[in-house]
Formats: sequence, structure tokens, C-alpha cells
Amino acid sequence: MQLTNPINRYGVTPQFLHWLTVILVLTAWTLGTFGDDLPKGAARDAGLFVHISAGLLILTALIMRLAWRVVEPPPPPEPNEFGRWLGAFADPAARLAHYTLYALLIAAPIAGIVAQFARGNALPLLDSPRYRHPGYAIEPLPIM
Ligand code: HEM
Repeated sequence: MQLTNPINRYGVTPQFLHWLTVILVLTAWTLGTFGDDLPKGAARDAGLFVHISAGLLILTALIMRLAWRVVEPPPPPEPNEFGRWLGAFADPAARLAHYTLYALLIAAPIAGIVAQFARGNALPLLDSPRYRHPGYAIEPLPIM
């Protein structure tokens, strides 16, 4: 099992982070879209907790993937029919699509974090008044 990237394909680490992100995005999207259909109370609260935790893990995995790209440059694109058809546009088009997906993976959780703070709520993984947006803190922040 090769953790680092072999010459012409991604290694186990970026593949793991990629598929983890796929599962987390599906989880976050499903709970974001259908979470309100859960019965009010513990079930709905748990749904939102998992939704937010998945979103925060997506951000974490993304940071790890970007760091991995710096340490281990990705393999070159494989020649394929689509690439031959697009000619010189294939590379920039693939790059643009890739970076757009990265931007969306940042934008969705950041929008969620802003929504959470705007409601005066803490992030559940860091459930302490210390991590609430100071403008909305209900209890005074402890003096260090
Ligand atoms: C890629 C990650 C994420 C995706 C795809 C996603 C997707 C969604 C979707 C589709 C909705 C429903 C919007 C609507 O009904 O109009 C939603 C709602 C929401 N999201 Fe996310 N979200 C993500 C990450 C986060 C994160 C990181 C947080 C908080 C830290 C968050 C907090 C919320 C909140 C508070 C709501 C409103 C829930 C309610 O109805 O009360 N989301 N999200």
C-alpha cells in the first residue's frame, strides 16, 4: 500500500481524503435538505449536529488535501477522448472545474459557520461559550 503518490496516479492518502469528502458532502447535503423532516426534538437536533460536524470535517479534509498537494504534486492528467476533443482547452477547463469544486467546498461550510454564529449558536464540536461569536455571546467570556 503506497501512501505517497506513485508517478502516474494518486496514492492512498489523497484517495482516502477524496472519498471521505464525497461521503461527508452527501451526508451534509442530505441532512441539510431533509433535516427539517426529522421529528422535532432529539432527532432533529442530532441531525443538525451530524450535519454541522460533517461540514467542519469537510473543511478539515480540504485543508489536508491542499497541504498534501503542496507536499506531493498530483500526477499529470491522463490522455483521454474528452481531452483530445477539447484540445488546448482541456487542461485549463479541467483546472477551472477542479478549483471551482474546491471553492464550493470552502464556501458551503463557511456559509454554515456564519449562519450558526449569526444565530448566536456555538459550533457543536467546540461547544463552549468561548467559541461563540463575541457579538452574540450569551455568557461573558472568561477573563484569561
Ligand atoms: C459542505 C458542507 C455543507 C453543505 C453541503 C451544507 C448544506 C446545507 C443545506 C442544503 C441546507 C438547507 C438549506 C435550506 O433549507 O435552505 C443547510 C442548512 C444549514 N446548515 Fe449547512 N451545509 C454544509 C455545512 C455546514 C456547516 C459547516 C454548518 C455550521 C457550522 C452548517 C450549518 C447549517 C445550518 C445552521 C443550517 C440551517 C438548518 C435549519 O434549518 O435550521 N452547514 N446546509
